[in-house]
Amino acid sequence: MKKEILISALLMASMSLSAQKTATVKIYPERGKQIIPKEIYGQFAEHLGSCIYGGLWVGEKSDIPNTKGYRTDVLNALKELKVPVLRWPGGCFADEYHWMDGIGPKENRPKMVNNNWGGVVEDNSFGTNEFLNLCEMLGCEPYISGNVGSGSVEELAKWVEYMTSDGDSPMANLRRKNGREKPWKIKYLGVGNESWGCGGNMTPEYYSDLYRRYSTYCRNYDGNHLFKIASGASDYDYKWTDVLMKNVGARMNGLSLHYYTVTGWNGSKGSATKFSKDDYYWAMGKCLEIEDVIKKHINIMDKYDPQKHVGLMVDEWGTWWDQEPGVKSALYQQNSMRDAFVASLTLDVFHKYTDRIKMTNIAQVVNVLQSMILTRGKQMVLTPTYYVFDMYKVHQDATYLPLDLICDKVDVRDNRTVPLVSATASKDKEGIIHVSLSNVDTDNTQEVSIDVSNFKVSNVSGQILTSAHITDHNSFENPDIVKLEDFKDAKVSKGMLKVKLPALSIVTLTIK
Ligand code: AHR
Repeated sequence: MKKEILISALLMASMSLSAQKTATVKIYPERGKQIIPKEIYGQFAEHLGSCIYGGLWVGEKSDIPNTKGYRTDVLNALKELKVPVLRWPGGCFADEYHWMDGIGPKENRPKMVNNNWGGVVEDNSFGTNEFLNLCEMLGCEPYISGNVGSGSVEELAKWVEYMTSDGDSPMANLRRKNGREKPWKIKYLGVGNESWGCGGNMTPEYYSDLYRRYSTYCRNYDGNHLFKIASGASDYDYKWTDVLMKNVGARMNGLSLHYYTVTGWNGSKGSATKFSKDDYYWAMGKCLEIEDVIKKHINIMDKYDPQKHVGLMVDEWGTWWDQEPGVKSALYQQNSMRDAFVASLTLDVFHKYTDRIKMTNIAQVVNVLQSMILTRGKQMVLTPTYYVFDMYKVHQDATYLPLDLICDKVDVRDNRTVPLVSATASKDKEGIIHVSLSNVDTDNTQEVSIDVSNFKVSNVSGQILTSAHITDHNSFENPDIVKLEDFKDAKVSKGMLKVKLPALSIVTLTIK
């Protein structure tokens, strides 16, 4: 019998044994030290498919309801999520983007061809001012991804000056001429993207030297302090991290990492909505492998930087499935309960390593890969992933509470093992504890016993995201198949909080 078939058979046998399983959680509030930076909940917006044009931006003359050109429905949905930081303009696009084409009167802006993503023609009507004004409207930090691959040191240096200088300088005056008197505050600056690939196919040694050169001229103007992020490794490329840490070290504030839950880079990546249980469990295994990958990159960083001055920035992560059939927009994919679990499980992992991980950005915010929001003309739907981010926003800037979890596990394809329950906990500034629990099991309820004997509990409430089938998703025809509901199945008795998690459910509890 082939190994894969054997694993599937074992999986099915273990699934059909019982309808209710048990798991235990022990939380340690007294050991909570580390803050979960709100930037762990970062988003990413690239000029790719209909993320910017049609997704975020429709222009003031559009018949789609808009606020100064930004889609009002998308704007409101994102405000609800409390987006802390937004990365722009790419991705691969960033290393072919020439920012000066996207400023000034719109009628004078040259058109461009988006060579990375289908050769579509863009009119540059969404540029620096439009992006930074959007960040102000959302109340989030901008994260600018600079062009190192095909740009110049001068071009990047002038971009920083345009955005942040308050002096009587050429670029600050150009900004004033374009209607913005005061500079913006820019904290996060990416010096290139995927410089090992679409960002220039460089070696880590060559990129290290370029990083040192480019970053030298990205100045801190008028009280603005840049947090400079070097282009980091993809997945299992530990050599990249090693060379960057050795050759660049403390000259960077952050080093990025990209990790996608994807089956491979060639051929079909599988449908976003038509998949088997086996495919689903494989995705859980692949997404959880990020923990091992993170640990290995962190170990290398610790070797060169034991004081943890340099942050690990997972500035691209999420699922990558086949483009939705019949939709022309590049990398447009549907989003099911499977994606919701990839989000909750991955966020649970990030929470554990925030002494090193300072930001992450799910790819991407609207209409691209594992998005929060899908749009079609005037219509908008919120995805299951959106609801996870909504439910988890309580963890932003809260103190991470370590916990122990004991639960059943299942062996899945590619020699991975998946725990059937995932959990994370934090304590916010008001002293309220939030616990998020995911029951990954497709068939069985999990009764989770949380030992609360070491903290006071007077009230427990919660929200749940669940659906009957793992392939369930929200479409323009049926936008509310998967949505948040109140959760009532948590009861305290004798120092134990008993939580009944239905199969395929994600819950966040508020414990006061
Ligand atoms: O997010 C889509 C693409 O994936 C980005 O442009 C690139 O950085 C990565 O390979």
